[in-house]
Amino acid sequence: MNLINEVKKKKELRYLPDSIVKRALNRTHNNVKDSRALLRKYFGVFLTNRVLKGKGSIEEILKTHISSKKRNYESIYREIFKITEIVGSVIDLGAGVNGFSYKYLREFAGPVEYIGIEASGQLVDQMNNYFKNEGLETSCKGFHLDLFNISEIKKILRKSTKKRLVFMFQVIDALENLQKNFSKEFIIEIAKESEIIVLTLSTTSLSGRKKFQVKRTWITRFLEENFNIKRDFNLNGERIIIFDKK
Ligand SMILES: C[S@@+](CC[C@H](N)C(=O)[O-])C[C@H]1O[C@@H](n2cnc3c(N)ncnc32)[C@H](O)[C@@H]1O
Repeated sequence: MNLINEVKKKKELRYLPDSIVKRALNRTHNNVKDSRALLRKYFGVFLTNRVLKGKGSIEEILKTHISSKKRNYESIYREIFKITEIVGSVIDLGAGVNGFSYKYLREFAGPVEYIGIEASGQLVDQMNNYFKNEGLETSCKGFHLDLFNISEIKKILRKSTKKRLVFMFQVIDALENLQKNFSKEFIIEIAKESEIIVLTLSTTSLSGRKKFQVKRTWITRFLEENFNIKRDFNLNGERIIIFDKK
């Protein structure tokens, strides 16, 4: 049996794109157990039962996903759209359950198009079911895609309505851990097909227990050198950096 299928035997990893599983196998010298552990850390851990089954109110779903649970969507969107003029679309890279926050997004951004790109097939299905049930499917859509597939992502961005605002909420760590230094190239390429980017970093560890001092100075330096930083602030355990092209 091929190693990719072997890794994917586990329920929570079954619907990841093969390209991502392959990357994990490369990082772990083809060790199935280690690949699973790596993938669980960056993908599977977010799939709580409630998220998988799509049960509960949107507030409950947003609260059960590990990276969005501390987030107050009203506050974060209020802050983001304070300085950002009218946008036509929001393209959310590594969306997690953010699609369920569309009603908050609409409150501050107006009736924007929303595109969520996510590796976890279950999350994409849940997101699209939600959009359908709410009659939002003409303006909102989830895509099951690997962010490493930059050319596909850029195609989607090209088709999106301007002004395009890209979210990269707490996704850099996953990219870096599957391929070191990929995120720099990624941000540069995405910026070519977008007008404004909001990148966030968690300032607490995944378990939320210990405060971890990831200063991630490399990203600050990189963004300052290559982009125009419009705002950089902290909100509920999350550092939020808003930038556009120089
Ligand atoms: C820490 S979670 C953040 C989710 C959401 N952006 C948020 O902040 O609430 C990272 C998300 O990015 C997705 N992700 C990570 N690497 C990815 C990749 N290469 N392609 C697509 N999605 C990816 C994971 O499946 C996960 O849902």
